[in-house]
Amino acid sequence: MKASFGILPDGTQANLYTITGGGITATVTDFGAHLVSVLVPDRDGNVSDVVLGFDDANGYRTGNGGYLGATVGRNANRIKGASFMIDDVRIRLTPNEGENSLHSGPNGFHLRMWELVRQRENLVTLHLLSPQGDQGFPGKADIYVTYALEKGGQLKIIYDGVCDRDTVLNLTNHSYFNLAGQEKTDAAMGQELIIPGRFFNPDDAENIPTGELRSVEGTPMDFRIPKAIGRDINTPYEPLEFQGGYDHNWEVFCTPCAILRDPDSGREMAVSTDCPGIQFYAGNFLNETGKGGIPYGYRQGVALETQFYPDSVHHPEWPQPFVKAGQHYHSETTYKFSW
Ligand code: BGC
Repeated sequence: MKASFGILPDGTQANLYTITGGGITATVTDFGAHLVSVLVPDRDGNVSDVVLGFDDANGYRTGNGGYLGATVGRNANRIKGASFMIDDVRIRLTPNEGENSLHSGPNGFHLRMWELVRQRENLVTLHLLSPQGDQGFPGKADIYVTYALEKGGQLKIIYDGVCDRDTVLNLTNHSYFNLAGQEKTDAAMGQELIIPGRFFNPDDAENIPTGELRSVEGTPMDFRIPKAIGRDINTPYEPLEFQGGYDHNWEVFCTPCAILRDPDSGREMAVSTDCPGIQFYAGNFLNETGKGGIPYGYRQGVALETQFYPDSVHHPEWPQPFVKAGQHYHSETTYKFSW
């Protein structure tokens, strides 16, 4: 199903695509390839929208400093000094967080119009042509994102891409989840999280990884046994103090690499991915007016962003986000809902 999602200032019509399958319904817009809503039943069959977002495309265009539902690319997360090397050539991006690049700078993929290439009842595929030199990255890249709903409550996000020069491709989805329903704004910190990852990346005061992979053992970063997100978030512990709460990358150790649970509604979401890392961000800077005018504030939704480790372009010892000219980039992340 296709509906209008508003008209952009340049006159472009933005569209909203509805997909259904596996017991859930989702909507996706071609403006920024944002995931707009995910409707999931609770244990009594009451359906709620479990992702934060806006009512129309212009909400995503003007109000979305927090990247709600965004498709982030070419490179998710941070690059120190907004600069790195490919094949002995220095690549320079536009800094947008101090001296550093966050989510590829001011002209992210979430601010572009994508083109519909395929729609079926349970899936939609969008395409973006990222021109030569886009955001400072080499080469012209064709990027595809597919949202598919599959049996057993699975929302699958599939990324494909190819570039005509050696470049970086490291896309993610930046949805904020609140399994109680996006309108129950005070519920997120009471939800339980499991992250089996044994290590996380501590950051410096500028949110850039120090290079250490630190064991979670005996720290507030240990989510190997389920605990409420809010339980340890204010513990005096330098990585939490530097970032104002959870906003870190964990290793992806196994499948699923994260499970979020809302004990009240009975909803659960398990995250699986082929990416090496997952950023758990507890919405510490969240401040948006969202769907139906609902104010989304401090820690009222959580993002679980699958990706290469932040700033991995400067850490050859970690898995690398580089692709060669003509090489097929493919990545999949599944959010599996149950209730
Ligand atoms: C980052 C946060 C940032 C948020 C919104 C997350 O991926 O880790 O530090 O505030 O994106 O930009």
